Amino acid sequence: MIKKIAVLTSGGDSPGMNAAIKSIVQISVKNKIKVSGILDGYLGLCKNNIIELNESNVSNIINQGGTILRTARYKNFCKKKEVKIAIKNMKKNNIDALIVIGGNGTYIGAYKIHKMGFPCIGIPGTIDNDVSGTDYTIGYSTALETIVQSIDKLKDTTCSHQRISIVEIMGRKCGDLTISSSIACSCEFFIIPEMLYDEKKLIYNIQNSIKKGKTHLIIVITEKICDVRKLAEKIELKTKKETRATILGHIQRGGAPVAFDRILASRMGFYSVQLLLNNKFGKCIGIKNNKIIDNNFSYALKFFKKKSIKELITNNLYKL
Ligand code: F6P
Repeated sequence: MIKKIAVLTSGGDSPGMNAAIKSIVQISVKNKIKVSGILDGYLGLCKNNIIELNESNVSNIINQGGTILRTARYKNFCKKKEVKIAIKNMKKNNIDALIVIGGNGTYIGAYKIHKMGFPCIGIPGTIDNDVSGTDYTIGYSTALETIVQSIDKLKDTTCSHQRISIVEIMGRKCGDLTISSSIACSCEFFIIPEMLYDEKKLIYNIQNSIKKGKTHLIIVITEKICDVRKLAEKIELKTKKETRATILGHIQRGGAPVAFDRILASRMGFYSVQLLLNNKFGKCIGIKNNKIIDNNFSYALKFFKKKSIKELITNNLYKL
């Protein structure tokens, strides 16, 4: 029987992680389960950096961005030795099960812990929305809102100066934030990792748009596809139109979570404890058709996330 669980946040923080922590603590306390908070993700777990969580230290956090448990990227956690230390520390602290909140990297760590026989559950927390087995990850909606607000502002000045703006957006290998903000802000072009990047074609299409009378343009592009500053220089050279690059950067990860993320995180936190109460381990949580579901870690890590708005690309609605 589970008497004490631990929770950690790992990898890039995302708005709504605190709401998940709060919900885990609330439902656990109701079921007379103690909760430990592991500071600094897997790094803190290996260093035995553990605190006790109760209803009072999770009050007033539902609206806070970031994570009260802090986070870290701990590359060494791929080693068996570190995983063993982590499990030893949890056993030393009488912890019976672990809930991790994070993205794919966090799930890889959790799967290793699970495979060594320690009960583990994963909650998807990342702004990238790139975790498979879930329509949405915690933090994605807030980041999208931040991006949309930023592009709206950028549009004012781009329009006033009759310029071209290139906006670099986070997401790693996933174009969800880019494509969604492009639709929401009615950007002229988007470039995402799921599509073939053709610079010549992009410039040709920009030139065509200008010929047709466009006075200002916004192009959104997912990070790591190209050097956006260099691209801006090239576009300016070819179109003779002033072009600026804006890298939104880590601003996208901060801020108070929007209501959707708070609710999603609360539901997932609740569900994760329910799974543990029912002795279901090695699962990661998702939302599909507004229903909270679970998958095996092995499933979530095996498949790449399917694009929910793929039809927009395949139907050439936003063709480059
Ligand atoms: O995974 C979230 C994310 O913000 C990605 O979009 C981005 O590529 C990465 O983290 C940045 O990581 P870091 O904060 O370690 O620079």
